[in-house]
Amino acid sequence: MELNRVDVIASLVSEMIGTLSPEMQGRAYIHLFGTAQAAALIATKRKVNVELAQICALLHDYYKYKVDYNDENHAAKGADMILPILAKSGLFNVCEIGNIVRAIACHSEKDKVGQPLDEVLKDADILQNVMKNVTKPIKPKYAERYEKLKAEFSL
Ligand SMILES: [Fe+2]
Repeated sequence: MELNRVDVIASLVSEMIGTLSPEMQGRAYIHLFGTAQAAALIATKRKVNVELAQICALLHDYYKYKVDYNDENHAAKGADMILPILAKSGLFNVCEIGNIVRAIACHSEKDKVGQPLDEVLKDADILQNVMKNVTKPIKPKYAERYEKLKAEFSL
């Protein structure tokens, strides 16, 4: 059977989630896999590499869940943690690793505009946060990007 890189990364993420407390497991599954689905939708619409977008989304909060949920610097620390994992996997070339790690490293900078892959991850992160409970008010820090997403997707 052909190797599917999204499946391989999803398994790695599931394995990490399996080590968390039951409450955290639910949160992590919903957020990481939900963000990956949102990333696929946004990347498809924008003609950005869907596979890499899903992989970035699956891994973007790896550090946050595995090490410290409240670390403000989880994006940069997560990128540092993910880089050797991707390199050791032998599944990605140097350019792909650079792109995934960069997108993870800057995903908390929602007020800045980066490369198309970075933007897919930031917007997918927000879309999942909004869509997990649409009856809650939108966080002010997400409002501007969510308004743009609504316009882009005619929501
Ligand atoms: Fe996130």
